[in-house]
Amino acid sequence: MKRSSVKELLHSDKFLQEVHVKGWVRTFRSNRFIALNDGSTINNIQCVVDFENTDEELLKRITTSAAVSITGTLVESEGKGQSVEVKVTKLEILGDSNPDEYPIQPKKHSLEFLRENAHLRIRTNTFSAVMRVRSALSFGVHKYFQENGFNYVNTPIITGSDAEGAGEMFHVSNFETNKAPLNEEGNIDYTKDFFGKETNLTVSGQLEAETYAMALGKVYTFGPTFRAENSNTTRHLAEFWMIEPEVAFNDLDANMDLSEDFIKSVLGYVLENCKDDLEFLDNRLRQEEKSKPQAERSDMGLIEKLNFVAENNFKRVSYTEAFDILRNCKPNKKKKFQFPITEWGVDLQSEHERYLVEKHFKCPVILFDYPATIKAFYMRLNDDGKTVRAMDVLFPGIGEMVGGSQREERLDVLKSKMAELNIDEEELWWYLDTRKFGTAVHSGFGLGFERLVLFTTGMSNIRDVIPFPRTPQNAEF
Ligand code: 4AD
Ligand code: MG
Repeated sequence: MKRSSVKELLHSDKFLQEVHVKGWVRTFRSNRFIALNDGSTINNIQCVVDFENTDEELLKRITTSAAVSITGTLVESEGKGQSVEVKVTKLEILGDSNPDEYPIQPKKHSLEFLRENAHLRIRTNTFSAVMRVRSALSFGVHKYFQENGFNYVNTPIITGSDAEGAGEMFHVSNFETNKAPLNEEGNIDYTKDFFGKETNLTVSGQLEAETYAMALGKVYTFGPTFRAENSNTTRHLAEFWMIEPEVAFNDLDANMDLSEDFIKSVLGYVLENCKDDLEFLDNRLRQEEKSKPQAERSDMGLIEKLNFVAENNFKRVSYTEAFDILRNCKPNKKKKFQFPITEWGVDLQSEHERYLVEKHFKCPVILFDYPATIKAFYMRLNDDGKTVRAMDVLFPGIGEMVGGSQREERLDVLKSKMAELNIDEEELWWYLDTRKFGTAVHSGFGLGFERLVLFTTGMSNIRDVIPFPRTPQNAEF
């Protein structure tokens, strides 16, 4: 007999028909009521066991997290809280679960505890909701780009370049530790390594994506990126997924429009397609907020917040304007910032970004035209000679969600910038070629996918929105 999913059964009105379903027991009450979940939805289906006519040994094996196969009749439920249930006619235990050993009990566990059991945490309501939303978000990302004429490009994961110039790279080598051959100068001889040169895991697919944009016009990447930055924060991972669109002939304004339209569209997609999960996460967040002091509580619920972002314009502000706001704001004057805002040109820290979005503008903000000295080499220099056409999209509760720019398309300007920063022209000969052969204005940005999932689900730690987080001192599973 064809197996139905729990989701299908909950939406079905084929009463009195025989149905077949498989899943894991969430709870078993009064020797009668199984709450069964199979991952298709946040909701369980109630399966009612005729315990008087069921073998006692079998009843004992219906424990939390046991895998079961059930055949029965779909009926309208008499109990509260569900509209349909399954009257069990045949029950088979597919896989027992020892209740004394199973770590996830049907009670509230701390997120820290669940992180240590990342292989089982997905069996909780919270994590199954988060991961279904994550999956829908990633479909929403592809849908947006595919429907808007973008080509999906798979840029390499192993590369020889450091796109961001921050030196936060994981090296890739197949030399045996401590046995790497040395050259005459006594340095490691990478010409003898697997690739014949020094290589690392990519920190961004942008440089390669640019070459594709200069032929396919509109492209995007969506893949894993790696950063060996030692930041143990709730917003940093060593392995995360980045979405990087790159568009030929787009200037910075068009780039800002694209980022805003893209984010709104993807949020719209999950609002439409993940109603049950978002409602669950909305309630969860409400409970969490209750335990916070009044002053720190958010005045918007999760769904309300997502709708707000999807429906309202992002505020666009230059770095210089933002700098003035920050320099004159109360927390700065009262020396409440860990990094005081003193001179034009300072890099903005997360505390400043969050002040701007959460306290000052109270909506997502796009900051643009940053000082050249705090941004990467490839950003287009403005006529003032000191700012570049950079943009960061800042979100409440998150800080930086997107970083992007209009690219420096002028070969001579790009070369002199690289010389200033000691970036070897020979290393990036292929990148410079795009500026030699039919160069054109072009722009793009990178969106940290986990930060988007964090915002959409209302979770507060980035380790809880990726299945198996990689962070300093942690690569379990
Ligand atoms: O601002 P970033 O460093 O920009 C780039 O890599 C550009 N090459 C993008 C481009 O223009 N194509 O990173 C982009 C985004 C950040 O805004 C942030 O959301 C996310 O990537 N990100 C991280 N997310 C999680 N953990 C980390 N360690 C992250 N570092 C950056
Ligand atoms: Mg950035």
